[in-house]
Amino acid sequence: MQSKLRTIIYLFFCMACVLLIHSCKKKPATGTDRQLYKMAKDTTGFIWYKFSDTLLPKSPGSAHKLPFIKTRFNSIAASRLTVYGKVRKGASFDEGSLIVKEMCDKNGAIKVYTMLYKKTGATDADENGWIWNAVSADGNVEISAAKKGKDCISCHQQEDNIDNILMNKYFP
Ligand code: HEC
Repeated sequence: MQSKLRTIIYLFFCMACVLLIHSCKKKPATGTDRQLYKMAKDTTGFIWYKFSDTLLPKSPGSAHKLPFIKTRFNSIAASRLTVYGKVRKGASFDEGSLIVKEMCDKNGAIKVYTMLYKKTGATDADENGWIWNAVSADGNVEISAAKKGKDCISCHQQEDNIDNILMNKYFP
C-alpha cells in the first residue's frame, strides 16, 4: 500500500516537473522579435498573395508544422507583386518590405506568425538584408531574429526562390 502511494507521489512529481519545464519554454518576444510581431499583427495595408486570404494547405516543401498557411505583403513588399498578386520574376524587395506567413491550425486560427523583414545592415539581418523570425500568436518567440535565419535560409535559397521567397514556387 505504502509503495503504491509512493508511486503515485512520484508520478505527480514527474508531471509537475514536465509542466514546469513546458511553461518555462515560453519566452515573450522582446526587441526585434516584439517589433516585428507588432508590425505583423497590424494588418493595415497588407496585400494577400494572389489577393486571396483563403487558407492554403501547407506545401510539401514546408518544414513548418501547422497544416494551413496564408501569406501577405506590406505595402512596400506588395510593390513587387504582379497583377495576379504573385511575386514578380527576378524581383528584389525594397528596404522595409515585410512578408508575413500566418500559420494556422485545422480550424483556421492563427497559431504562429513567420516573418521576413528587409532591413539591410541591421544587427539581426542576414547578408541579403533579411531578418527572419517566428512568433506565436500570443506573442512568444518561436525562432528569434537573433539567430539570423540559421534555421531558415538554406531551405529558402533553394532553386526558383525569388529574393528568398518561395510562395511562387509552391503556389504557382
Ligand atoms: C524546409 C524548408 C523551409 C524552412 C526550413 C523554412 N521555410 Fe519558410 N517557407 C518554406 C516554403 C516551402 C514556403 C512556401 C509556403 C509554404 O509552403 O509554407 C515558405 C514560406 C515562408 C514565408 C512566406 C514568404 C515566402 O517565402 O514565400 C515566410 C515569411 C517564411 N517561410 C519564413 C520562414 C522562417 C522565418 C523560417 C525559419 C524560422 C523558415 N521560413 C524556414 C520552406 C521553409
